[in-house]
Amino acid sequence: MLDKLIRKIGGREEPDLPGPPDSGGAGVPGHIAIIMDGNGRWAKKRALPRIAGHHEGMKTVRKITREANRLGVKVLTLYAFSTENWKRPKPEVEFLMKLPDEFLGTYLPELIEQNVRVETIGNGESLPEHTKRAIRRAMDETAGNDGLILNFAMNYGSRAELTDAMKAIARSVGEGKLRPDEITEDMIAESLMTAHLPEPDLLIRTSGEVRLSNFMLWQLAYTEFFFTDTLWPDFDEAALQEAIGVYQARNRRYGGIGKEGVK
Ligand code: FPP
Repeated sequence: MLDKLIRKIGGREEPDLPGPPDSGGAGVPGHIAIIMDGNGRWAKKRALPRIAGHHEGMKTVRKITREANRLGVKVLTLYAFSTENWKRPKPEVEFLMKLPDEFLGTYLPELIEQNVRVETIGNGESLPEHTKRAIRRAMDETAGNDGLILNFAMNYGSRAELTDAMKAIARSVGEGKLRPDEITEDMIAESLMTAHLPEPDLLIRTSGEVRLSNFMLWQLAYTEFFFTDTLWPDFDEAALQEAIGVYQARNRRYGGIGKEGVK
């Protein structure tokens, strides 16, 4: 994709990537990204081990996927494991790595029935073989589906993603395909793992934490944020509808003055 853009510039053609989205009048967000936080605290409140919270969180993934699909959301990106999550105790990491196996082993038939396509972003190479296998199988079996894209961010870190993108662009410069002053924002976007996806319209973070934790730093530039104290295992259909309602009441201006500002 980056090469295609570079060729266009070489030929003095304008890139035909989508321009800025329309502002205002938000309907159902096309792309919702979620930082699923609070599993540990949910478990602690019940005197359960942390992994019980993750297991309950997996059930919420099922619930929210179904509801997002029902509402007509096109892409649901879920932050399932960050590049920093390896720092957690080994048994917890091992449990988190088994969750895709269990989730997809249990729910793949219903995802297929719902026309959901499973995708991932992140460095899949360093995942355990069994995790890779489960994800690969789900991606293969849902590749032909054209409903909701259920995009798991697995071993994902935005800074690593941006660093890789910069390396790819620098290589093109080094190979003489591109001059530094020809680098565009579109080229950077096209070098990210999300190149084929629209940018998130709505970011949700559960559990009362108000930070991005290295999640989609480039892609969230004009995204609307919704933070809730609800812990991820308690997040349900009504909570998703509430977040979408808040989003719909926002006036997205993308740095301009918006429709209401024009008199
Ligand atoms: C953060 O909560 C949550 C995670 C690091 C893992 C999220 C994973 C799931 C919700 C399940 C994913 C399911 C599939 C199918 C991949 P935390 O543990 O940091 O919670 P705490 O801040 O309360 O301790």
